[in-house]
Amino acid sequence: MPTVTPEIRRLFHSRPYGDSVRFLRSRLPAPPDIALVLGSGLGDFAESLPHRLIFPSGGIPSYPRSTVEGHKGQIVSASLAGRNLIAFQGRIHLYECNDLSMVLFPVIVAAELGAGTLIVTNAAGGINRQFSPGDLMLITDQIDFTFHATGIPGNHGGNRDLFDPVLTEHASRVAAVRGLPLRRGVYAAVKGPSYETAAEVEMIHRLGGDAVGMSTVKEVALAAMLGMRVLGISCITNKATGIGSSKLNHEEVTEVANRVKMDFAVLLTDCISGIRV
Ligand code: HPA
Repeated sequence: MPTVTPEIRRLFHSRPYGDSVRFLRSRLPAPPDIALVLGSGLGDFAESLPHRLIFPSGGIPSYPRSTVEGHKGQIVSASLAGRNLIAFQGRIHLYECNDLSMVLFPVIVAAELGAGTLIVTNAAGGINRQFSPGDLMLITDQIDFTFHATGIPGNHGGNRDLFDPVLTEHASRVAAVRGLPLRRGVYAAVKGPSYETAAEVEMIHRLGGDAVGMSTVKEVALAAMLGMRVLGISCITNKATGIGSSKLNHEEVTEVANRVKMDFAVLLTDCISGIRV
């Protein structure tokens, strides 16, 4: 069960997330065990889940809205292999709002509802030259290049591993059993919304990043502070600037995410089915 300390609660002083928690708690058939944040183009996973209940975010009191194409901004409750899930289709990015309390809203709501595990997913540009568009990557660690103060008190709860090693190995195993290729690497986040320059990509590469995106790191930092177990999966939708020759655009990102959605769904389903709750 995640622990929400008064310091963490203070981070949300301007955003009464308790309204959203009460609204959802009174409508969910059971408290969630696992929360999923589904990134750009990956939201469809929630469409096929059994025992689905859908909550458009506009109907949830105090819930912030996303403006990015490919992000539905709805919450789906479901049950899969006996695990109760709460899935957030789409997220709000720091570049949209410059407000961490909006970015972190789904994580605090999931924690207050009782979810002990968080699965974060995103679309990312491949920096590691071995990666190709369409690859899935297990996130082993992260680098925060947003240059935006975390606002999250503490040091990730003292966790050496932000991403739960047991969950990460579990995901590796289920992928191997299915014969699904799965990369591993460090996810680096920039604030965006513009894509990186080739020189920035080279810098991130030299500093240890394998993939680059515009999300996730703050959510993971908060989840670790709350004591949640975190699993992270990136969908490599393109080669980062300077790594490939093609020009980047958001359509390419959603098109590739669409192409891998079957593999992504198989991986997530098998992973979730084996997570101890
Ligand atoms: N850079 C940043 N964010 C991204 C990218 C990228 O190349 N691809 C998908 N999200």
